[in-house]
Amino acid sequence: MTTVDSKGPPNGKELPEFGTIIDIGGTRCMPAITEELLLHEPAGRRILSVVTLSDYPGLQLWSKLTHSPTYYQTIDEILLLEKYASEIADFIVPGSIMVDIGSGGLRKVMPLLDELEARGITVYYFALDLCKEWLGDSLKALTSRYIHVRCFALWGSFTDGLEWIKHFTGPKVFLSLGSTLCNNIIPVASKGLRLWADAMAPGDIMLLGYDSNLNEQKVRDSYITSNGEFDEFIRHGMEHSNALLQRQWYKPDDWELLREAEFQAEPPALVHRFVFRAERDVQDETLGLDFKRGERIICYESFKYPTNVLKLQFDLAGLRAKASWKSPASDIHDFLLVKA
Ligand SMILES: C[S@@+](CC[C@H](N)C(=O)[O-])C[C@H]1O[C@@H](n2cnc3c(N)ncnc32)[C@H](O)[C@@H]1O
Repeated sequence: MTTVDSKGPPNGKELPEFGTIIDIGGTRCMPAITEELLLHEPAGRRILSVVTLSDYPGLQLWSKLTHSPTYYQTIDEILLLEKYASEIADFIVPGSIMVDIGSGGLRKVMPLLDELEARGITVYYFALDLCKEWLGDSLKALTSRYIHVRCFALWGSFTDGLEWIKHFTGPKVFLSLGSTLCNNIIPVASKGLRLWADAMAPGDIMLLGYDSNLNEQKVRDSYITSNGEFDEFIRHGMEHSNALLQRQWYKPDDWELLREAEFQAEPPALVHRFVFRAERDVQDETLGLDFKRGERIICYESFKYPTNVLKLQFDLAGLRAKASWKSPASDIHDFLLVKA
């Protein structure tokens, strides 16, 4: 395996060997996030956090789904990045630290990294996600592919990533592909985005991908697979929550899994969500859980905001779009954001 060259990374901070997974917090946050959203009902809703879907089996299931022919979200953003990689790469300066916020499967970012590699530009790419085994598998494909693009992983939460990035003063590129940031009710989403904006210095950039498709049937179809893998993926989150909360509070037979899609008026959005509805009363005294029959838990909620609403989020976070690109296949957009 290659090692750090003599010039070293930006601002002289020593980095480990290429391909290393750096533990910046691991999965220590997962029980806390699960508990907070499920038990304490922020915004008056019970939510199964997406972190419950981010263990190794969860990410393997998710990766399978992204290959489903109806799951346009992945393929359409790949088409965008393939088409515009060269224009996007023009904004990336040599020596940049690139942090891929919630990196998931790395095939999406490859067209951009391929372009940087072809230009011979040295950049330091860090995939940030919650599962060590998954990051290990994903990195293998990159380290054998690139020389100039030096690849690492950050194993931890977004909060850990924000803390870690404080050590760098060199140029930074944040990647938020696949609607990872901005996908929430506006006050929550813009607060999350603001944390990353605050970590940006003048000259730093963020490439933010977002799904603004408002075609209800297309969106509904994308969350259905012929063999029920999407249900398996979502139910896996509930099963994993038993482990995270150290209580067997979830029993599959107690819960019906539904899908919903609706247009909300203010702010305008098409919202798709999975919902677990209690088929009978469900209690867990230790956790303080008391569900009456018919009560709901929301999971994997997707807010498809039109681009004007998205821009409102950028404003609230102190960011502005300097450039943007649209997928040749649908309303998936990537925005090049800088500090306002
Ligand atoms: C919707 S997927 C997007 C993946 C990829 N960026 C793409 O566009 O295909 C979101 C990713 O963020 C990760 N993630 C979600 N919440 C996280 C958190 N709080 N800290 C770290 N990673 C998180 C998940 O594990 C998942 O891989």
